[in-house]
Amino acid sequence: MFSNDANNFRNTNISTLLQAAWQNLTTSVILLNQNLIVIYANESAKELFALGEKRFIGQEFSALFSHHTIDLARITSHTLQQGIDCHQHRADVVFIDSRHAKIALSSRSITDENQTLILLECRRLDEEIKHDLASHQMHQHNAARTLIRGLAHEIKNPLGGIRGAAQLLQYETYQNERDECTNLIIEQTDRLTELVDRLLGPNQLLKKTACNIHQTLESVMKLSMLENHNHIKLIKDYDPSIPDIIVDEGKIQQVVLNIVRNAQQAIINNEANKDTKTGSIRIKTRIRHQMRIHNKSMKNALQIQISDTGPGIDQNIIETIFFPMVTNKEGGSGLGLSIAQTLIDQHNGYIDCESWPGHTEFNIYLPLNL
Ligand SMILES: Nc1ncnc2c1ncn2[C@@H]1O[C@H](COP(=O)(O)OP(=O)(O)OP(=O)(O)O)[C@@H](O)[C@H]1O
Ligand SMILES: [Mg+2]
Repeated sequence: MFSNDANNFRNTNISTLLQAAWQNLTTSVILLNQNLIVIYANESAKELFALGEKRFIGQEFSALFSHHTIDLARITSHTLQQGIDCHQHRADVVFIDSRHAKIALSSRSITDENQTLILLECRRLDEEIKHDLASHQMHQHNAARTLIRGLAHEIKNPLGGIRGAAQLLQYETYQNERDECTNLIIEQTDRLTELVDRLLGPNQLLKKTACNIHQTLESVMKLSMLENHNHIKLIKDYDPSIPDIIVDEGKIQQVVLNIVRNAQQAIINNEANKDTKTGSIRIKTRIRHQMRIHNKSMKNALQIQISDTGPGIDQNIIETIFFPMVTNKEGGSGLGLSIAQTLIDQHNGYIDCESWPGHTEFNIYLPLNL
């Protein structure tokens, strides 16, 4: 069947088919000669530049724009002169008819016995960027709404109590009842202050000392084992060669404890695992070299990875789990990971998370002096 199809294909005029395929590519393809003059453009390129064959072919490439940030010098020095492929992930261009666009470009050299040509592939990015932006904005918006809803709920509860107590105070004159009311007012206002403090995040200076990270992790494990009524397996996978690290030990414990607790809660509440409630949590330590994450670079880093076999993070909140008040737990404040991120930030480290059904892992990277 397949060989018949292949034979039929061979019998048709391959070059006609390829020509049609080439013309119908959604990627814009342009061929430039050594003087950067356009010698060929497919249909998609003509659409992108809004130019017909006559005005396109024979035109100098840079004259097709009134402004552009395409790195032509690199294309000439790398692709044309050395035969190296070049990729520019984003260039801003203004065409001669004043339309703006963002494009991605790749250049490759093709050579026959007479000449070297540049094959340029261009792809419009506007739609992708708009889509990413829209999805990012939607997540931000949802996170802000969740935060406000959570905050309103947390503040309204104690406020109701405070108001009730104040009303009682207006009428009650007995010492006992007055004490009861003032105690309630103090209790509830303290609760609100604590909530606002937690929302503002940790603000004390770090008390850094040299510490053995495995001892720190052991204390966390011991604490979480006390709460571990469900026979969740804790697996240790330590690199014993890791030297002492200068950190605020209490804060690192707080971060790891929240992540381990989250993992335990996820395993216990896993619907797919209702009867057995079993699973495992693995804590791994490693040394990483030459790390570059976002705008942070670390020559040497300590990696602490905490992974679990729970259901994975809910897809609806995965993009925003480090935001305050993002939670899907009954009674959860959604502050654990937001505080964890602030604390790791204060250590000039980095924390990230990856999750899919059946697996969640948090990675903490802390700068390590070797
Ligand atoms: N290991 C995990 N597996 C599945 N979901 C997780 C895991 N870790 C975190 N999450 C999700 O991330 C949310 C935010 O976690 P975070 O620790 O910030 O808040 P919380 O645990 O809900 O409340 P708090 O820690 O303040 O008591 C959790 O509600 C949960 O939905
Ligand atoms: Mg938590």
